[in-house]
Amino acid sequence: MLSEQTKEIVKQTVPVLEEHGNEITKVFYERMFEAHPELLNIFNKSNQKQGKQQTALAQTVLAAAKHIDHLEAIVPNVNQIAHKHRALQVKEEHYPIVGEFLLKAIKEVLGDAATDDIMNAWEEAYGEIAGVFIQMEKAMYEQAAWEDFKSFKITNIEDQGTSMKSFEVEPEENIKVPDLVAGQYITVRIKPTNDENLALRHYSIYSVKNDGKIRFAVKKEGFGEKKGLVSHDLHNSYSVGDTIEISAPAGDFKVESADDKKILLLSSGAGVTPMLAMLEDEGYKGKEVHFVHVNESEKDVPFKDEIAALNAMNNNVKVTYHLKERDGYLTSDELKAWIDKDVDIYLCGGITFMDTIFDELSKLNIDQSDVHFEPFGPKMSITNV
Ligand code: HEM
Repeated sequence: MLSEQTKEIVKQTVPVLEEHGNEITKVFYERMFEAHPELLNIFNKSNQKQGKQQTALAQTVLAAAKHIDHLEAIVPNVNQIAHKHRALQVKEEHYPIVGEFLLKAIKEVLGDAATDDIMNAWEEAYGEIAGVFIQMEKAMYEQAAWEDFKSFKITNIEDQGTSMKSFEVEPEENIKVPDLVAGQYITVRIKPTNDENLALRHYSIYSVKNDGKIRFAVKKEGFGEKKGLVSHDLHNSYSVGDTIEISAPAGDFKVESADDKKILLLSSGAGVTPMLAMLEDEGYKGKEVHFVHVNESEKDVPFKDEIAALNAMNNNVKVTYHLKERDGYLTSDELKAWIDKDVDIYLCGGITFMDTIFDELSKLNIDQSDVHFEPFGPKMSITNV
């Protein structure tokens, strides 16, 4: 239990952290990787380059500091991060390392302003926060369909639109693929060409077919210096018959609407992947589904054949493509026509798309908390904590 004094000190340091948060986490990563280069086999180097992970961690630290006397307020967000940690195989023994270097970074950046009282308070607070994560992740490890990463053979690869490929894989080891939940993702581990470290990425599954295979899709991310290390390798260097490693399915994004509710599945770009799995699953179950996909142009739309087949098979399914080249940006006027009190909204795409849609929905008095969503990027960066 933290003392009242410790909680007070932690809360009082929030403005300082807000001011220096990104700098502290930048120093933290630099120093941690110098001392523990083996952790570069877990962390996403592309995110590091773009500063994405820095923001996510800084925001989580702030969220925790603000809610230090009622940490349960951050539990919904911790749940989502814990799923990712479990999928990446972040273990209990990693937490003291992160704690040590986070505290050292606070001291280095704040200098004399970080008094012994402040440092002691933060050490205690970190222990408390880490405890919440460790406990939640322990339960997830116990429930995971298999331990660690296992080898899978690629059995099929197909082009999807202009920048995506779908992959079908089956286990090479003696494990059983569990019943998959639409909205879940798997985590792929490869050794990218010309890189000394292993690299891990999460990819959503696009089908819940129960035939011992896993199906996921990969969008080619970025280009030039910022080209996605793993996505480009999977696109260019992997073929049918090759082996990749995968950890057990994870994630808490799923359809959780009452039977009498209709659902609007709204996606952009690679966000189509979990939505397609939901369309497949809910379409067969007979739920009324409106599937809306936003993309640049007709040629970019992934999974056109699969979507058309599900549309043709199920009278309860309606499909709308919003092509920016043809229709401009998706506005509240258009959204209004698709939403009424009986519709639950599910949203998935990149951070910019999600932000835009939340802005448009707010014009219709629909709040972020009314929407089920999964951003491709850290969720905390668009969640108000
Ligand atoms: C991802 C917070 C401990 C490794 C994340 C994310 C957050 C976060 C907010 C982004 C999740 C998202 O994508 O939505 C924290 C906090 C920790 C903690 C508050 C301590 C209390 C650790 C530890 C490790 C670790 C101990 C392992 C050494 C990672 C990795 C990612 C991640 C590898 C994926 C993102 C990337 O690779 O860039 N964490 N984390 N975290 N965390 Fe943690």
